[in-house]
Amino acid sequence: MSDTEWSNLSTEDRRFPPPPELVAEANVTAETYARAAEDPDAFWAEQARRISWGTEPTESLDWSNPPFAKWFADGTLNAAYNCLDRHVEAGLGDRVAFHFEGEPGDSRALTYAELTREVCRAANALTALGVRAGDRVAIYLPMVPEAVVAMLACARIGAPHVVVFGGFSADALSTRILDCGVEVVITADGGYRRGSASALKPAVDAALEKCPDVRSVLVVQRTGQETAMTEGRDIWWHDALAAESDQHTPEMFPAEHPLYVMYTSGSTGKPKGILHTTGGYLVGTSYTQWATFDLKADRDVFWTAADIGWVTGHSYLVYGPLSNATTSVMYEGTPDTPHQGRWWEIVEKYRVSILYCAPTAIRTFMKWGADIPARHDLSSLRVLGSVGEPINPEAYVWYRENIGGGRTPVVDTWWQTETGMHMITPMPALSVGKPGAAMTPFPGVSIDVVDDEANPVANGHAGLLVITKPWPSMLRTLWGDDQRYVDTYWSRFEGLYFAGDGAKRDADGDIWLLGRVDDVMNVSGHRMSTTEIESSLVSHPKVAEAAVVGATDETTGQAIVAFVILREDAEAGDDIVAELRAHVAKDIGPIARPRSIMVVPELPKTRSGKIMRRLLRDIAENRALGDVTTLTDSSVMDLIKDKLPSAP
Ligand code: WT7
Repeated sequence: MSDTEWSNLSTEDRRFPPPPELVAEANVTAETYARAAEDPDAFWAEQARRISWGTEPTESLDWSNPPFAKWFADGTLNAAYNCLDRHVEAGLGDRVAFHFEGEPGDSRALTYAELTREVCRAANALTALGVRAGDRVAIYLPMVPEAVVAMLACARIGAPHVVVFGGFSADALSTRILDCGVEVVITADGGYRRGSASALKPAVDAALEKCPDVRSVLVVQRTGQETAMTEGRDIWWHDALAAESDQHTPEMFPAEHPLYVMYTSGSTGKPKGILHTTGGYLVGTSYTQWATFDLKADRDVFWTAADIGWVTGHSYLVYGPLSNATTSVMYEGTPDTPHQGRWWEIVEKYRVSILYCAPTAIRTFMKWGADIPARHDLSSLRVLGSVGEPINPEAYVWYRENIGGGRTPVVDTWWQTETGMHMITPMPALSVGKPGAAMTPFPGVSIDVVDDEANPVANGHAGLLVITKPWPSMLRTLWGDDQRYVDTYWSRFEGLYFAGDGAKRDADGDIWLLGRVDDVMNVSGHRMSTTEIESSLVSHPKVAEAAVVGATDETTGQAIVAFVILREDAEAGDDIVAELRAHVAKDIGPIARPRSIMVVPELPKTRSGKIMRRLLRDIAENRALGDVTTLTDSSVMDLIKDKLPSAP
């Protein structure tokens, strides 16, 4: 980017200082940042002491072969021991690790002692199936406690897990199994979704037709539905575990032993298998969960409302919380089953104190209306988190006011599957919150915003987000493809990790994320962020959700095309489009006025909740629709096309 002057810096001047009662007991202070900045290696060595090691590491970072990092390389540890046994040994065996809430309303509390015994049984069962350290195990499960048990059992025996989101197709599963050389799969008969039992096992059977090397399938019984079992290959999980002892001695593995592979939904080409290793990942997730959420593990009830099939589930539902002996909530189903107040009922029931979710969920709740959460006692909440995409200032403020009762700080955490842990975030007991800004690099993390020539941009300017120093929980490579790792992340700029996100620094130097760089539009030579225009639209009282794309335009290079969902109570008169165009022009500037605005009933989203702008661009440019296989619901596109006045 040569011209880094963004014409449309929105002016967001609301500020939210941290509540005094949080400040009084803050986990992170200004001194933490100062110490981390002075000597990041020593800072991370200090954080490594949160973890219990077989052999203590003597060194933090080994960067002798960039970009292939090693952290704490001469240390040994067992990740499952750190998440389980050591808490039981410390007398916390009776503490609840998970309050599981099934979609049909069944619930189950699992203490640290119970979880440890289950994981030991599962580790013994996997060993009995011939799984050895280094072997990859695929996990394809709904959001049930067995998913955590399976992950930790793998970690315990040093077998990297490959969790595949339960909403993915048989095709996606087989691609990942083949790429990773998996021989054992853990799945379930089915799970509950939108009020009914939805089968999972048939997808495994279909996937395995293409995967002759898979020799065993462990099947968790969740729904009890009719399930075909292949003789000699498929075993019921409960039978396998019942046959095993609940005692298991954890082996210590080198810090750089692979912990898991997580595939990122490929926007182009074949999915990338992000490899995370054990020591650095555990230190990073453990410390960030404690710091970012100001965790008080003896009293907080923590709820990461994300699926275990995503990195958010790995880092902040499993490894971070369990390594810190946190009590967490785990919910199986959708937010509107059986009613739109389900999440708030759960917050009330378990007295959830920290809630972590995605802006897309928040905007959905906005659409449903503030009167729904208002019917519940949400006074237990003290910190709210956001992750996955830029949070529009309006959604941030709505979240803070209507869910947090106006008391709670909102932490907007920027990170990626690749980074493993939070990289940019405010701190709830320290930062003066700015709606829409991720704000500050995490202590011990070095971030910059640079122009095309890798020069740091000045305050008030935008550019590309880079990470300038290795961090403990960074990906180590892409599974089986070192070259692609180098090409994707380390080739754009010499010695800098290229994140693929646009960002700007405001007048105070705080960081705002602007979306993927491919979501950046250029309209008549002005750089425009899809996010900023979306935020402007969402700030209009009649708009619930908005997606903006840049469509090719003869005159302006790209033209702004917006898709909006109106609020349920909004009266959509004929002039709504004109009203919204004028609103954006007034809010950001005439250059940001969308060329066209289409009112639609739904937006196409990936299973991780990201708006698929590519498909909207197809519509905006009158093209035949591209690949829709990663959509949550491909009928959404028909719904949108039906509603358009001049649909292609
Ligand atoms: C991409 C990574 C992080 C776990 C879930 C998604 C976007 C993520 C934020 C945020 C703005 C964000 C970025 C990033 N993103 N968090 N707080 N503000 N953008 O993980 O699927 O690996 O996606 O999500 O574009 O690069 P992922």
